[in-house]
Amino acid sequence: MDSIVVKGGTPLKGQIQIAGAKNAALALMPAALLSEEPLTLTNTPRLSDIRTMTELLQSLGVEVTALKGGNVQTLSAHDATETTADYDIVRKMRASNLVLGPLLARHHKAVVSLPGGCAIGARPMDLHVTALEAMGATIELKDGYLHAEAKGGLKGAEVEFWIASVGATENTMMAATLAKGTTVIKNAAREPEIVDLAQCLRSMGAQIDGEGTSTITIDGVDRLGAATHRVVTDRIELGTYMLAPVFAGGEVECLGGRIDLLGAFVEKLHAAGVDVTETPNGLKVARRNGRANAVDVTTEVFPGFPTDLQAQMMAMLCTAEGTSVLEEKIFENRFMHAPELVRMGADIEVHGGTATVHGVDRLKGAPVMATDLRASVSLILAGLAAEGETVVNRVYHLDRGYEHVEEKLGAVGAQIERVPA
Ligand code: EPZ
Repeated sequence: MDSIVVKGGTPLKGQIQIAGAKNAALALMPAALLSEEPLTLTNTPRLSDIRTMTELLQSLGVEVTALKGGNVQTLSAHDATETTADYDIVRKMRASNLVLGPLLARHHKAVVSLPGGCAIGARPMDLHVTALEAMGATIELKDGYLHAEAKGGLKGAEVEFWIASVGATENTMMAATLAKGTTVIKNAAREPEIVDLAQCLRSMGAQIDGEGTSTITIDGVDRLGAATHRVVTDRIELGTYMLAPVFAGGEVECLGGRIDLLGAFVEKLHAAGVDVTETPNGLKVARRNGRANAVDVTTEVFPGFPTDLQAQMMAMLCTAEGTSVLEEKIFENRFMHAPELVRMGADIEVHGGTATVHGVDRLKGAPVMATDLRASVSLILAGLAAEGETVVNRVYHLDRGYEHVEEKLGAVGAQIERVPA
């Protein structure tokens, strides 16, 4: 397994191109299952999770043609008749469960392995199941697989989520596009990836209203057509690289960055003493003074502070002036980066879903272990601020969600290199 070695202390200067959103692409790709016509996606990020989704869709009979190293994909489900998503692929990536809604909508049946838990939490699918059952599907769990069937097709229904689940909203939206009648999703997720999926489905011929608000209405149609759609900018990659100059000093312009994708994250940056300036090409970011200010952070559904930026923010607050309290309200076990940061000299106390970070003057480089995608990148960022050398192991987590992180940070002056295993 490759490692990434970072030497701290070099201020950053230059531009970083932000890629298309992993979490948008992982919903847009299964949308191709809804139509006999081809779906072309542009600005698709070149990531291992995208390759995993490609493998899954091909196992279902989807023809995937990739251009520009996967940045442009044409997906055709014209001859896709397979309806079983195999455990071997699903266990690698939870987002594989997003084939459930489209398979049920198009083929009226699906057998999808439960993804199983992951490092950050149990990741149940009860909201997906209850929503699809409300639309007339019968779903039972057998041998770790959800066996779903909708004789005569799905019917429109009104569903309400107790938590604005991104995946459950996406599965329900896609299922509803071909259901008979109208589906209303209440307490729907409002993330930019939801808006992006709705815009793509609409360009395929779906009748959708309200995306980006808590209530989404979908009027089912008989069939969907062809479309070409550009994947929205990755707000989590954007937020991650916006933090880089806060750790290392200097100034970075994130090309393609948009303030409207960031919700509460950008307010927290301002409170922490970070200047964010909109430019014609994106967002320019620099630390206002020599040291950031402590801020309290609570993760929430969009437009609240994103859970996927919590680890990166915690790492930054390790050397802020004062004490910060972080509350993780979305997942039950998403502080695994904390003990690794403590090994670098951070002063963090974790009690359940609350982490208290007492700012220290400087972190010290150390060999650290990545545990999940966002924890990995938070350790790399910490290495930018640390004295000496930090070695981040198990970077396969990183490659799931960040294209060539060492190249992007290296291009703006970071002393960083990938060391093959
Ligand atoms: C999506 O996961 C993202 N993944 C996650 O990003 C992100 O952290 C998460 O949304 C929250 O924003 C993709 O889009 C591929 P949820 P998802 O359903 O859809 C509970 C990353 O690092 N819940 O919004 O699985 C669940 O346990 C990844 O890129 C149920 O209880 O998240 C969690 O506590 C990590 N029952 C909360 O809802 C359900 O049926 C939010 O989960 C579904 C979810």
